[in-house]
Amino acid sequence: MLIKHTKKSQLKESQLTSESVYKDRRNIIKGLGLTALSAPFTSFANASVFDLFSSDDKSGGGDSGTFKRTPLNATKNADFQSLTPLTPEDKILQYNNFYEFGTGKGDPSQYGQQFQVDPWSLSIEGLVDNPMTLYYEDLLKKFEIEERLYRMRCVEAWSMNIPWLGFTLASLLKQAGIKSNAKFVRFETVYDPEQMRGQKSRYVGGSIDFPYVEALTIAEAMNPLVLMSVGLYGKTLAPQNGAPIRLVVPWKYGFKSIKSIVKITVTDKMPINTWQAIGPNEYGFFANVNPNVDHPRWSQASERFIGEGNVFQQSRKPTLMFNGYEEEVASLYKDIDLKRYF
Ligand code: MTE
Repeated sequence: MLIKHTKKSQLKESQLTSESVYKDRRNIIKGLGLTALSAPFTSFANASVFDLFSSDDKSGGGDSGTFKRTPLNATKNADFQSLTPLTPEDKILQYNNFYEFGTGKGDPSQYGQQFQVDPWSLSIEGLVDNPMTLYYEDLLKKFEIEERLYRMRCVEAWSMNIPWLGFTLASLLKQAGIKSNAKFVRFETVYDPEQMRGQKSRYVGGSIDFPYVEALTIAEAMNPLVLMSVGLYGKTLAPQNGAPIRLVVPWKYGFKSIKSIVKITVTDKMPINTWQAIGPNEYGFFANVNPNVDHPRWSQASERFIGEGNVFQQSRKPTLMFNGYEEEVASLYKDIDLKRYF
C-alpha cells in the first residue's frame, strides 16, 4: 500500500467533498440504522504500489540498542488458543507496516528502537459519561490482560498468526460509558515528529497526513473480538508493533489495527480513516477481510502466510471470509452490500 511520492494527500477531513460518495455514505449510515450525518467522503484518489515482494529479511535492533520489552502476566483465553502455526516472533518484530517510521517493512524495527512509551497518556473523550486518561501503568494494570491467538491479514495479501496480549475495547468503553447518541469510535496515533521520522518528512512517511486515524462503528467496537493490545509473545509490545497500546480487529484488514494510540473519541460523526482519505477507491471504511472483493489492483482470494522460512518458502492459502471470524461478526453486516461497502 506504499504511496507514490508524486501525489500528496493534502486534504483534511473537514475539506473533503464529493457528491457521489456523499450519497454512498448516506446509504451506509441508513444500512447501519444510523441517522447522524457527518463529513462527506472524498473521491480524491492516490496511487499505491503492492509490495508483496518486499524482503522479509530485515534486521531489527536499530542503531543504538534494542527497545526493552518486559514480561507480562496474562490469562490464556481458552477460546483462542488453538491457532497453528504461529508466525515466529522475529518475523512479527521485523516485518512491519508503521509509516510513522518509514515505508519499508524493516524501517519500523530499525528506526523505532529509541521510541519513548513511558510516560504515555491515552485519553477517552467525546460522547462518554466518564471521560478519562489512562497513563502507562494503567494500560498494563487497570484491565485484566488475556492472551489470544489471532489471524492477522494485511490488505497487501500477506498474513500472520499472532499471540496477542490485551484487554477488550468493550471493557474500556464500558468504563467510559457510551452516550446513547454515539455512533462511531475514532482512534488517533501519537503525533511526535521528533521521535517519528516519517512524521517529520513526507518523503519518509509515504505522504500520509499524520496523525494516523482509524475508526469503527459502535457495534464493531463493542464486539468482544476487538482487543486493545499491550503485548505479544508474553511481553509488552515493541515500538514497531505499536507500543505501548494498539488496536487489534482480527476480521478486518490490518490497516484498521491502528498503533501507538493516544486518543479515543466517541462521536456521532463518521470519521475519515487515513487510508480511506488517501485512496477511497482502494481502501474503504469497513475494510472487512473478504476473498470475494478484490482490491482494484490485486486479488484478495489468497494470501501469503508468513511462517518459517523466507518469502519463496512461504505458502499461499485461501483467504477466509472475515478472516475466519464469520461466526462472530457476520451479523454486524447482514443488511450491508459488502461489495459496495468494502
Ligand atoms: N498504525 C499506524 N499508526 N501507522 C501505520 O502505518 N499500519 C497498519 C496497521 N497500523 C499502520 C498502523 C497496517 S497497514 C498494518 S498491516 C498493521 O498495522 C501492521 O501491524 P504489524 O506491523 O504489527 O504487523
